[in-house]
Amino acid sequence: MLGKQRFGNTFRLAQCAVLAAGLFPLQAAVKEDAFGKMPDGRAVQIYTLTNKAGIEARIMSYGGILVSLKTPDCRGAMADIVLGFDSVDGYLKNPGPYFGALIGRYANRIGQAKFTLDGKQYTVPKNDGANSLHGGTQGFDKRLWTGKILPDGGLELTYASKDGEEGYPGNLKATVVYRLTDANELRIDYTATTDKDTVVNLTNHSYFNLKGAGSGDILGHLVTIAADRYTPVDAGLIPTGELRAVKGTPFDFQKATAIGARIGQPDEQLKIGKGYDHNWVLKRKGNGMELAARVEEPTSGRVLEVLTAQPGLQFYTGNFLDGTIKGKGNLVYGHRTGFAMETQHYPDSPNQPKFPSTELKPGETYKTSTVFRFSTVK
Ligand code: GLA
Repeated sequence: MLGKQRFGNTFRLAQCAVLAAGLFPLQAAVKEDAFGKMPDGRAVQIYTLTNKAGIEARIMSYGGILVSLKTPDCRGAMADIVLGFDSVDGYLKNPGPYFGALIGRYANRIGQAKFTLDGKQYTVPKNDGANSLHGGTQGFDKRLWTGKILPDGGLELTYASKDGEEGYPGNLKATVVYRLTDANELRIDYTATTDKDTVVNLTNHSYFNLKGAGSGDILGHLVTIAADRYTPVDAGLIPTGELRAVKGTPFDFQKATAIGARIGQPDEQLKIGKGYDHNWVLKRKGNGMELAARVEEPTSGRVLEVLTAQPGLQFYTGNFLDGTIKGKGNLVYGHRTGFAMETQHYPDSPNQPKFPSTELKPGETYKTSTVFRFSTVK
């Protein structure tokens, strides 16, 4: 079913036999190893998922972080296409970019670090100027999750966030399952329940470089986003509330366009974001999983497709990477050497009555999924 939801030119995928998708999304093999330790001595585990095509995804229990993701290019050469570090220590020392991490309880920004729910005001940590970013100073990306290998080969990660943690109301039980299928999809299923009214917005913050992590900038990647509007922001990257048409602006990715083609244009929104760091309002046909974005890297032929049922997609072009971070294999991560596609609700939704609601009530189950699908073109 999902295979049919493609942008115009993706039928070309069939040309490259290397990554021909299997008919059935069978589950990959999975193994567990020790990876390192938290500062308090608790053990961090790493889980390696592999599928028939040889794709390999490694996820650790600290932050639920996708540490590495190896996929073949059109010639069959493998490369690790996500930015990150070789050890737990690297992540502990460099939390700033949120490489590969699960983000919660509220992904993206909450304006003025406060919101009102059921008439009560809640204050959350200011960790991005006057605003709160990615769940606060100790968000889900900095928590040790409990890992469990499921009978179908999925990796289940659970984290119990206490009532009042980082200012958010309600004991929230979050479960995230990573699955690598033989249809060459890394699928992430998120669920959460609460015992008090709260707000939730979960995502994954992987930075991709389809040439391979550490092999230069991402400006030549061709991006298509299924959105005709986006949410412009104020100087603190908080949405103004407007849903602005992308037509005639550098934000129009309705047709495949190189990331670098317009990123330097004198556009006020690009200036604020120091590049792309915005939420696109996904054009949706229904409530199910739909193709949100497609990215093609011409030199490797690698293609990434992103599917979700969420209303928004934060497309961030690594504008804050400045070459001071050395990642896996000691490679330098310079300016715009990775891009993130975070499926999510719109930023600051708890303060924006016109945006789709992010409230979760006791008795309800928050459910969302992201599929990163890999293929190649010649
Ligand atoms: C998100 C934000 C960016 C930046 C990165 C992490 O994508 O929107 O502004 O904070 O996280 O560096």
